[in-house]
Amino acid sequence: MTDVTLTIDNKQVTVPAGMLVVDAAKRAGIDIPVFCYHPKMEPAGMCRMCLVEIGRPMMDRATGKPVLDEKGDPKIQFMPKLETACTNPVSDGMVVKTQLTSERAKAGQKETVEFLLTSHPLDCPVCDKGGECSLQNLTMEHGPGKSRFLFDEKQRLAKRVPLGELIWLDRERCIQCGRCVRFQSDIAGEPVIEFDERGRTTQIVTFSDPGFDSVFSGNTTDICPVGALTTADFRFGARPWELDASASICAQCPVGCNITFNTRREAKSDGKIVIKRVMPRQNEGVNEIWICDKGRFAYHYAESEDRLTRPLIAKEGKLAKASWKSALDLASEKLAAAKKNLVVLASGRLSNEDLFNLKSLADLAGGKAILYTDMGGGELTARVGVGQGFDLGKLGKGDAILVVASDLYEEAPIWWMRVKQATERGATLIVANPRATKLDKHAAFVIRYAYGDEVTTIEDLNDKNKIADAFRKAGNAVILFGSEGLGLAGSSSVAAAAADLLKESGFAGKPNSGLIGVWPRANDQGAWEMGFETSDDLIEELKGKAIYVAGADPAGDDPALAKALKAAKFLVVQDISLTATAGLADVVLPAQAYTEREGTFTSGERRAQRFYPAVPVTGEARHDFAITSQIARGMGYILEGTSPSIVFDFLAATVKSFDGLDYAKLAEVTEQWPIVGRGDLYYGGTTYENTQGLGAQLTSAAGRGETYKLPAAKKAKSLRPKEGEVLAVPVTKLYDQGATVVPAELLSERIGEATVTLNPATARELGAEAGELVKLAFNGTQAEVRVRTDEAVSTGVALVPRSFGLAVREPVAASVKSTKKARG
Ligand code: SF4
Ligand code: SF4
Ligand code: FES
Repeated sequence: MTDVTLTIDNKQVTVPAGMLVVDAAKRAGIDIPVFCYHPKMEPAGMCRMCLVEIGRPMMDRATGKPVLDEKGDPKIQFMPKLETACTNPVSDGMVVKTQLTSERAKAGQKETVEFLLTSHPLDCPVCDKGGECSLQNLTMEHGPGKSRFLFDEKQRLAKRVPLGELIWLDRERCIQCGRCVRFQSDIAGEPVIEFDERGRTTQIVTFSDPGFDSVFSGNTTDICPVGALTTADFRFGARPWELDASASICAQCPVGCNITFNTRREAKSDGKIVIKRVMPRQNEGVNEIWICDKGRFAYHYAESEDRLTRPLIAKEGKLAKASWKSALDLASEKLAAAKKNLVVLASGRLSNEDLFNLKSLADLAGGKAILYTDMGGGELTARVGVGQGFDLGKLGKGDAILVVASDLYEEAPIWWMRVKQATERGATLIVANPRATKLDKHAAFVIRYAYGDEVTTIEDLNDKNKIADAFRKAGNAVILFGSEGLGLAGSSSVAAAAADLLKESGFAGKPNSGLIGVWPRANDQGAWEMGFETSDDLIEELKGKAIYVAGADPAGDDPALAKALKAAKFLVVQDISLTATAGLADVVLPAQAYTEREGTFTSGERRAQRFYPAVPVTGEARHDFAITSQIARGMGYILEGTSPSIVFDFLAATVKSFDGLDYAKLAEVTEQWPIVGRGDLYYGGTTYENTQGLGAQLTSAAGRGETYKLPAAKKAKSLRPKEGEVLAVPVTKLYDQGATVVPAELLSERIGEATVTLNPATARELGAEAGELVKLAFNGTQAEVRVRTDEAVSTGVALVPRSFGLAVREPVAASVKSTKKARG
């Protein structure tokens, strides 16, 4: 794009052509006040706060050249009226006078504030936004001291309007800037709120059922320039100036959104320091300035009442409090005695440092380090995965994105949004899934296949057909694969087929191309990088072993695994709360929640990112990596146990994909655009500026130019349910009954109860009705669940949500029986 040079407040500025005057001024360090403009959205010109004087060079119509003054400079013609800086693009030779150099602009802005205040309640002392409100700040800076309008004419509108159970509207405070409406329609792609009525009674309404039905709704409260939109979570919870801020990473999905925990010590929490809210933190390469509602509201688990505070040792069948020394000594003695019969079973809830120490311990002892997951294929992301230089935000025209076996909206909402945005920039999206998902409407091609046909579907893209051409001829290509309807074996095969497609079509190792796993946990990618493996038969694997479980609850997820753990030779469990697995343990070791400590996670886009402590440690809980180091010491091995930074530097020196990284590098920041934060909330909203690190991306074997092998993708064995049965397949829901979500009471309506989703025709065939409780029986177990019907589900298939207490961990034949019939 060409550059243009203009003058703003006597300062020469060179910026790309097409940039808006308001942004050009920002680049030059000049803040033009705005309300309705937001740098992430198209301008609307609704509030008139950004009024400036704009002059353009006079042109001679005959010659098409600028008219010169007596000094030989171009003559500038100013418009008779003030113009909006947020709707006017820059042009060469333009001269802009803002409130800093123009009395007219200053007066225009002052009148806009005066006008806005005619309808505003001015309840700043009790308003949630007070202290971080654009209207408050800009009134102080640009407004009049007095109003010429009569107070009696102020609007009286409803002040407590729930738009949904998460977001509340104060109608009096709304200044009708339209930021929330434009965010929902243009950025979230979910236009579920709108303006209603006209004139001074114009108001925001929701017309979805349930109200404000969007997983991105909380972002509107950040960008609302006043206190009109507030979250039910934080509403009247604290004043902004009482809050401390700690940088962190959302641990709810593999996107790794950068967040800030706002904390406060408060009397109503018995004098404890508690998290009051979660805010987005800018990282343009990850989440820009947005987070989803799960990340914003599902943080309460770290504060839950059943947190472990002390080590426990089983005595006569009961867990009893013990000292750290006795618990560690016992754990070390028994794990050492197991020698090669040691299994370390850990999940992607842990940090890179924790996983590195756990893997090192298993290696030193000659045991196995197994990742507790139902999704495989991670070893391939280390070979052909995305890495250094990858940015979903840079994919556009000429690029291709394949999303296979994943409902991104439910599994990784911010990736859903960023993939949608890539299509708006011209990228070709191919969605391959057995049922319709919200991403379909943004796709150029939708491939519908039967559960079990995933590998064939991907392999078909190696052939000659229209969709395959669109993929193979792209400039850059990325594949996001998930585990929709699949277990460990099925998803591993999908990864193998996808990796092969990338290699064969020449995308492996290209900077903005590669494989991405839509993992169930925030740091599964980290576990794969550390070399954790999976087991084809975990139950068999655990038989008679000494087992060290960290950050996982297999017994809570699956009765068959609980049985296997009960039969373990010795069981050590390290977790933040007393899970079902911990209940079976010989030794329980209390770990710190990630909100209480520092460390790093590796996102699905293979970006290592740092998180920092936000709240004090609960009881005697210790860092996971430190506990492992202490156990190792008792077994005769030395592992770093004092500083996450040293562990990280060790792992960077050991794990090839981390080569060249160090802990300090992850904390580096470079200037991001648009500029948000820096105290001027009115421009970007209340999103936090990132001063604590943008993280750093890993390399892949293909990216390093190494030779590597890919496994052959195994086609799934066809599973034919008998007559009267269905094929039950696991699917992921954003809001589930997992231990990290349920403690957020605010989300309970969205979490709901366990369901089985059937095609209406299948439901009829089985004699089940929508809304009815049925008995779902599989693998010798049965559970009562409610039936949902959905035309998008294939006939003969039952969708069973993960983390709802139903252990459907891979496709399985199941029977669905109406309880009415059973009782009748
Ligand atoms: S609710 Fe807030 S963001 Fe929405 S139009 Fe009103 S002032 Fe603007
Ligand atoms: S998209 Fe994922 S990482 Fe981002 S806020 Fe939501 S749950 Fe957290
Ligand atoms: S009209 Fe420019 S910020 Fe509203």
